[in-house]
Amino acid sequence: MVRKAVLPVAGLGTRFLPATKAVPKEMMPLVDRPAIQYIVEECARAGLDDVLLVTSTGKSAIEDHFDRRVDLEAALAEKGKDEELAAVRDLAELAQVHSVRQGEPLGLGHAVLMAAGHVTADESFAVLLGDDIVDPDEPFLERMIEAHERTGRPVVALMEVPHDQVHLYGVADVEPGEADGEFRIRRLVEKPSADEAPSNLIIVGRYVLPGTIFDVLRDTPPGRGDEIQLTDALQTLAADEPIVGIRLDAERYDTGDKLGFVKATVQLAAARDDIGPDFLTWLRGWLAEQQG
Ligand code: G1P
Repeated sequence: MVRKAVLPVAGLGTRFLPATKAVPKEMMPLVDRPAIQYIVEECARAGLDDVLLVTSTGKSAIEDHFDRRVDLEAALAEKGKDEELAAVRDLAELAQVHSVRQGEPLGLGHAVLMAAGHVTADESFAVLLGDDIVDPDEPFLERMIEAHERTGRPVVALMEVPHDQVHLYGVADVEPGEADGEFRIRRLVEKPSADEAPSNLIIVGRYVLPGTIFDVLRDTPPGRGDEIQLTDALQTLAADEPIVGIRLDAERYDTGDKLGFVKATVQLAAARDDIGPDFLTWLRGWLAEQQG
């Protein structure tokens, strides 16, 4: 059974400076929840109740966010603010949140390797990258876990992008797999040029991996960008026996850059039961005004 999730959150968030000078990128709010909360909620929904944050200097606000805050709870209780109290308390119950420091920013593969003290070699675990938020109503991670349990192979999420974007991602060479939307991956290339890319199916930030990946990562030399790449370690495993790709068919919000972040904010706000209807009414009116 897969119970543990590893969340690499050590990045500097330079694309969002100056917002991320004193606040971790992962704590930037989408409506009223920090981006990282959507990810931990996704873990909890998929039954992953043990979350390891791979952090760096300046990221302690993330740990605080998932901890109890008794002074705040007492103040909310005294004022009779029951809804807010429940929201604050429930957060600490979502999962057991642990953390480990990456120390040096040596790449995603290196960040995942930091989990080796927490996840054993015979345990499988999920890796979720914070820039990709998946529609909260879709059980996509559950499907990935199911595929891993069925096949015993590493599972990665895949998505089609236009050819001029493949250089930003890990790209998969695929054959049809056991089920609809499932692929066998024989080869992966990290951030290839459009010419070198084997397809336009890219890795999105969701992985379900066996603990044996740690040994492979230890032997993986720095690759693209002089960083230890998770894609390269997966390529080593895929060369032995195909790994599994699952096409992400749920809505995905890429919050990794400013435009994506604003789009995600708009979409998530529109989907909300509380503010969604009023927000959409306002948005339609505002757009009509802009056009008029
Ligand atoms: C990482 C991975 C890449 C993957 C991407 C998904 O890249 O190395 O293979 O496609 O995440 O977001 P990064 O965005 O950290 O450069």
